[in-house]
Amino acid sequence: MKKVAVIGAGHVGATAVYYIAEKNIADIVMVDIEEGLARNKALDFMHSAPLRNYNVNIEGTSDYSRIRDSDVVVLTAGIPRKPGMDRMDLLKTNVTIAKQVSRQIAEYAPNAVVVVVTNPLDIISMAVLKESGFALKKIIGMAGALDSTRFRYFIAEKLNVWPGDVFAMVLGGHGDQMVPLKNYSSVAGIPITQLLDKDTIESMVRRTRTGGGEIVSFLKTGSAFYAPGASVAKMVEAVIKDEKRLMAVSAYLRGEYGYRDIFLGVPVLLGKNGVEKIIEIELDSEEKEALDYSAKAVCEGVESLGRFFTPA
Ligand code: NAI
Ligand code: 2OP
Repeated sequence: MKKVAVIGAGHVGATAVYYIAEKNIADIVMVDIEEGLARNKALDFMHSAPLRNYNVNIEGTSDYSRIRDSDVVVLTAGIPRKPGMDRMDLLKTNVTIAKQVSRQIAEYAPNAVVVVVTNPLDIISMAVLKESGFALKKIIGMAGALDSTRFRYFIAEKLNVWPGDVFAMVLGGHGDQMVPLKNYSSVAGIPITQLLDKDTIESMVRRTRTGGGEIVSFLKTGSAFYAPGASVAKMVEAVIKDEKRLMAVSAYLRGEYGYRDIFLGVPVLLGKNGVEKIIEIELDSEEKEALDYSAKAVCEGVESLGRFFTPA
């Protein structure tokens, strides 16, 4: 049986475990500094197994040695934002947590693919890379799957079509400057530009960009977790089953799309090695300009990361 570790048994971590368990593809270990929280949720999930038809083991613990030899490790430990906060406001607390957890992953699961969820996503992915010393393709940030599924839902809702028939792609950093691509969004292959007028598409693009904030404004105590959990599960499945799914993830770039040494949301093939291949697609001038703007915001975040790492 394959093994997945989920670090952080809070809202996103626990929801991801729930969706992963239902796929019946791997045993799961949830780790949280609050041991009771992880143990309680794991046991509760196991109680549901007969009703929900899964036969995998789910364990909750605060002991990192239990993640030993995991195939995939999902990092969700960290604080979420509250109303009035930007994802960058989480940086100090979450970098410190991410560095601690990265050391544990490197010690106990050195061959794992790491799916980073903790915000600010593209910056924390860089912190995990630096601290773990893992291969570049093994660190993947979860954002594109979430931002794309929001865009897909808005399109489906507007056109009153089956949500699964809608395909969409959102690139860039996981911030309000993200880049939903109208030219690569379709309903069963029909470009949305043939089905919706420009203003309607623009309003959905804006709503996608601020989709996370919209949830925070309703929830007030934290941020989204159902769609993020489902997005994590889809990525974990692609890696565990070596599916080579084409989806947007935050990947380390070495010149692709004209950017270097940052994590940024781009289309990739996702498989057992993590990022199997980065796919470069053509962007029109408006999209490229928007991606440049988004990448600039990520670069500024990466610069501020310097103060958490002493030069070698
Ligand atoms: P939460 O507060 O419900 O859960 C976080 C959990 O992390 C808590 O249970 C806490 O005890 C645990 N934790 C803290 N330090 C730890 C450590 N050193 N080791 C193990 N566990 C530790 O927060 P939630 O809603 O689950 O969000 C988690 C993170 O995911 C936040 O940073 C949030 O912004 C981010 N997020 C990112 C998304 C994305 O698209 N990339 C989507 C949704 C959330
Ligand atoms: C979101 O987009 C919190 O980043 C997270 O919902």
